[in-house]
Amino acid sequence: MFNRFILNPIFAISISVLVALGPAAVNLRTAGNFAILAQSSVSTVPPSAVVGAVGLSPAASTFLTGWSLTPSPLGTFSISTQCVGSLYAANYASPTPAKLITAVSDMKTAALDAAGRTGPNFLNLGAGNISGLTLAPGLYKWTSALIIPTNVVISGSAIDTWIFQVAGTLTMSNSKRIMLAGGALAHNIVWVVSGAVTVGTSSHFEGILLGSTGITFQTGSSINGRLLAQTAVSLQKTAVVSP
Ligand SMILES: *[C@@H]1O[C@H](CO)[C@@H](O)[C@H](O)[C@H]1NC(C)=O
Repeated sequence: MFNRFILNPIFAISISVLVALGPAAVNLRTAGNFAILAQSSVSTVPPSAVVGAVGLSPAASTFLTGWSLTPSPLGTFSISTQCVGSLYAANYASPTPAKLITAVSDMKTAALDAAGRTGPNFLNLGAGNISGLTLAPGLYKWTSALIIPTNVVISGSAIDTWIFQVAGTLTMSNSKRIMLAGGALAHNIVWVVSGAVTVGTSSHFEGILLGSTGITFQTGSSINGRLLAQTAVSLQKTAVVSP
């Protein structure tokens, strides 16, 4: 009887434990309520298509250009045919200004957190040129500019994480794609960039962009992610889908 018990097949089942690979998540706090958040301007060359909220502070709504805004009755936000969501600027009615101040502060806190992570798994990978690479979960650090001149793949599970620290500009060529594999999700991918971010014409980007300066998406480009910039965001017929 005892032998039969210990030979029961239930003891042969192997348990596989799902372990997340990559750095601890970056907490966006209320900045995570925005698809686009900027401090000096958010411009669009129509038609762009944004799914998510747009926020601008401390600049006023005059620096939300190209949107053909329609103000809400109470003046707390505007709408645009180019945005499935609301647009907010620092000169709108209360409580919008205070909420934007908090969101911008949260954006800066998140950027400091992401940029401050130490002990990179990959240092200056590809000497700042990640042409053709497949990027496993981890902390990546480049001490100067980064270029994406071809398609690249970000590969990992739905719980894995990536932080890409770029101490310079980030430039993606025209008609290239960041592709996700293995279940990887845009909201687990953070790019923290000290210089200007430029995504070329008809290219596709994935992840949360935390820019110390401006972020420009050229004609016909797209992103699954967020554009959180400490100066300006410029869209040119760009599709933005927040995760
Ligand atoms: C980037 O790397 C690829 C592959 O090694 C190479 O063909 C290309 O010339 C490099 N681009 C630049 C601008 O260095």
